[in-house]
Amino acid sequence: MTTGPQLPSAYRLVALDEIDSTNDEAKRLVEAGAEEGTLVWARAQRRGRGRRGQNWVSPPGNLYFSLVLRPECPPLQAAQLSFVAALALADGLGAFVRPPSEIAFKWPNDVLLNRRKVAGILLESSTTTSERLDWLVLGAGVNIVSAPAETAFPATSLRAEGCGPVTAGDVLEAFSRHYLAWSKRWREDGFAPIRQAWLHRVTGVGERVTVNLESEKWFGKFADLDRVGALVVEMPGGERRTVSAGEVYFGPQT
Ligand code: BTN
Repeated sequence: MTTGPQLPSAYRLVALDEIDSTNDEAKRLVEAGAEEGTLVWARAQRRGRGRRGQNWVSPPGNLYFSLVLRPECPPLQAAQLSFVAALALADGLGAFVRPPSEIAFKWPNDVLLNRRKVAGILLESSTTTSERLDWLVLGAGVNIVSAPAETAFPATSLRAEGCGPVTAGDVLEAFSRHYLAWSKRWREDGFAPIRQAWLHRVTGVGERVTVNLESEKWFGKFADLDRVGALVVEMPGGERRTVSAGEVYFGPQT
């Protein structure tokens, strides 16, 4: 590993050259008792995972990390941390991107640069009661020097967007500082300021979405994010429905 990032003392860094998946390593550590703030960072992943079981191509040069969290709140509320992480990534990337206003969000927690995906977030958790989580692992991947070709949604990297010399360690350092600030805001002031800041950068409001639930499928338009973090979909007749679980696809209605 090259020079290590300087992280605030709230984190305990576990830096690895290569691993199957930083989320899997963080889960192994948390099951063995790792504390909140344990941060697994790998130079490359052999089996990086995205949402919906997709592969996350993970060659050296990009950023792959997973943060162990033990939020003392119900699972639905803890899911709001994906928005907190998206804000921290956007602010962290803002130091390297000109203009930072080109950084945007796409539901549920993709970070875009110039309308292409530059980072993704994967939350995984364990619960034994509906009251609180045992743990939550917040994983993120940031395309720094390369991005996969031929993805369903176009991808890009900081290098492809001309962002100059920036390393995975630089972005991790920036993320870690902003994550502390945004998660403090969330703990103290709740979801309202997070929602507001996320909506400020979001793309796709008014666009068509397909919602695939276990037993039904709806077609509508992305209308809003509600007060707890669920997607609000406007149906063709004007009725509004919220979706927190389930699969939501943007694009043509098939
Ligand atoms: C997505 O957009 O589908 C989420 C991608 C999350 C990828 C990161 S890379 C670090 C961590 N380890 C994994 O296996 N996945 C996440």
